[in-house]
Amino acid sequence: MSSHLPLAVPKKMTVPDFKRRKLSGEKIVMLTCYDSSFARLLNESSIDLLLVGDSCAMTMHGYDSTIQANVEMIAAHVSAVARGAPGKFIVGDVPFLTVRRGLEHAMESMERLVKAGAHAVKIEGIRGNEEIVGHVTASGIPVMGHLGLTPQFVNAFGGMKVQAKTEDEKANLLVEARSFEALGAFSIVLECVPSDIAAEITSTLKIPVIGIGAGEAVDGQVLVLQDLLGFNPSFKPKFLRHYLDGAALIGNAFERFAADVRNGNYPSKEESYG
Ligand code: KIV
Repeated sequence: MSSHLPLAVPKKMTVPDFKRRKLSGEKIVMLTCYDSSFARLLNESSIDLLLVGDSCAMTMHGYDSTIQANVEMIAAHVSAVARGAPGKFIVGDVPFLTVRRGLEHAMESMERLVKAGAHAVKIEGIRGNEEIVGHVTASGIPVMGHLGLTPQFVNAFGGMKVQAKTEDEKANLLVEARSFEALGAFSIVLECVPSDIAAEITSTLKIPVIGIGAGEAVDGQVLVLQDLLGFNPSFKPKFLRHYLDGAALIGNAFERFAADVRNGNYPSKEESYG
């Protein structure tokens, strides 16, 4: 395993930086984050931006899909992350059905996420959401689109499966990506799609494409923090690289503490008040 010294902490990103990065070709690095302790660590890292994803329903609340997330849940996590990482651009995920209950409900939800500390919102899917996406971007709330394997559609997709495999589906995906761009989105996430269509979308759009399971030709990559850290060793989709054997390392710390307490090795005199 190679080790990397911390790079200089980059200046906080702003929306215009995303197009600059697309033009310069410098890759964009996004990671999910849901709490203040990790946010504090990430604030001192070279990671470009943090996504408070609806995956928090799974990673933090133990549900088996993102469908259980709601605006209260995401706003609470956004607020914790914003306090821990004041130096990072933060994207708040728009949870299941939020943009399907009318403009007023959608706008109230966006307002909650932005007031909780999100600099932008991420919306899954564009078909049928065109009016709301246009309204959100026209209201000055930056939108990150999310296409491909959009986990809120897990039931419609019949499971978490690679999307856009046929030529027709690829053509549809390109239309959807163009639609997000035309409606003012500043970037899109492309999840679990074949590398060739991800490359085509990346070279067609003027906004950056951030991939997860979309190959290497995209403008940046995102991973779920707990996945990158190997907290769940049995979760190993093809695209995922574990950068830490987190489950073993943390489990080992728990066992050392338990053993020290049981053996009378903790606390020592130095760790006790006189
Ligand atoms: O909620 C999430 O973590 C996400 C990423 C997988 C992109 O949407």
